[in-house]
Amino acid sequence: MKELSLYIHIPFCISKCYYCDFSSFVNINHKIDDYIDSLIHELSLYKERINQYNIKTIFIGGGTPSCINPKHINRILEFIYKNFRTTGLVEVTIEANPGTLDREKVQIYKKSGINRVSIGVQTLDDNLLESIGRIHKAKDFYRSYEILREENINNINVDLIFGLPNQTIDNVIDSLKKVIELGVEHISYYGLILEEGTRLYKSYIEGKILLPDEDMERLMYHKATEYLIEHGYAHYEISNYALPSYECKHNLVYWDVKPYLGIGLSSHSNMEGKRFSNTSNINIYIENLKKKILPIEGEEIINKNIEIEEFCILGLRKISGIDKVQFKNRFGIEIEELYKDIINKHIKNGLILNEDNCIQLTERGLDLSNLVEVDFLM
Ligand SMILES: C[S@@+](CC[C@H](N)C(=O)[O-])C[C@H]1O[C@@H](n2cnc3c(N)ncnc32)[C@H](O)[C@@H]1O
Ligand code: SF4
Repeated sequence: MKELSLYIHIPFCISKCYYCDFSSFVNINHKIDDYIDSLIHELSLYKERINQYNIKTIFIGGGTPSCINPKHINRILEFIYKNFRTTGLVEVTIEANPGTLDREKVQIYKKSGINRVSIGVQTLDDNLLESIGRIHKAKDFYRSYEILREENINNINVDLIFGLPNQTIDNVIDSLKKVIELGVEHISYYGLILEEGTRLYKSYIEGKILLPDEDMERLMYHKATEYLIEHGYAHYEISNYALPSYECKHNLVYWDVKPYLGIGLSSHSNMEGKRFSNTSNINIYIENLKKKILPIEGEEIINKNIEIEEFCILGLRKISGIDKVQFKNRFGIEIEELYKDIINKHIKNGLILNEDNCIQLTERGLDLSNLVEVDFLM
């Protein structure tokens, strides 16, 4: 039977971080009950379609799923276990903010089948945390981490951001050193994206903050990669590093362009030969589902060319690159035949390598991945 991954979006946060433009809201806690009912309605509307598959991974992301009452998380997961095929379920992740975890919550998560927790830490420098609007201090992360381990969560990811205002390379390595010392299984290490409309963007435009320049930002990336590899972490995707066998199975589904269904506000899906996404308006989302209407806003049929493009662009994000045999099996043509000129061009300019089994980005290619990716569009 085919496999499917489920993404569930929880769009609530306690306060908005200055850099974040994710689909997440503060001060709308009165909508939580209705929203969770809507998630359950949405899942019900997909019942027949989901049951064509075995669910392989579930990712509860946000927003901050850990800021709502854990009974909601339990309700969603119990609904899934009761109504869908989950015998092949290997990974259930929840995203958490260190300021919002406590022992009781973690116990309920564990009872609900959650086996992976992804913690948004960003940095362990308290001044920096405050300057980007985080609600927690480094000590809150240590406390959350301790509780997770005591409750036998043995697959933990930590999100870190580099390129923050006034951040130095020593500061970045210091945070990495501290999370590595704890033995976290997985690290997502993101370069700051200055998103238009965020508080940080405004401060930058007004000249109130200074960001590391591009050379320094790249140095932070390469030094950290070196440091993580030295400490036993495999660099397996542009922004992701894992101890052996702890790669995120859910995210690999995205990068391998396998089927996934997104439930909840602003979520994206890719299944049954279509890409589609939900409305980002929470009122429309709730109202549609009350009327048993799927809150889909955009839909696109994936023809073969689109699928090839996506397979290449997302494949290049993986450090192992695009698997040539998988490409041939999936599309019935050699990648070197289809993209001969593009591949040669980027081999010449030092951005990609054509190995026996795969086409992958070079170290320089990782810095300029956008330049390579656009060339794979047909
Ligand atoms: C949904 S949040 C994680 C869970 C929780 N909301 C939290 O922040 O603790 C996903 C992650 O995306 C990253 N992120 C969000 N906005 C970003 C930006 N503008 N640039 C780089 N990384 C960003 C952060 O590392 C964040 O932890
Ligand atoms: S980074 Fe996380 S906690 Fe902060 S606003 Fe975004 S989703 Fe919410």
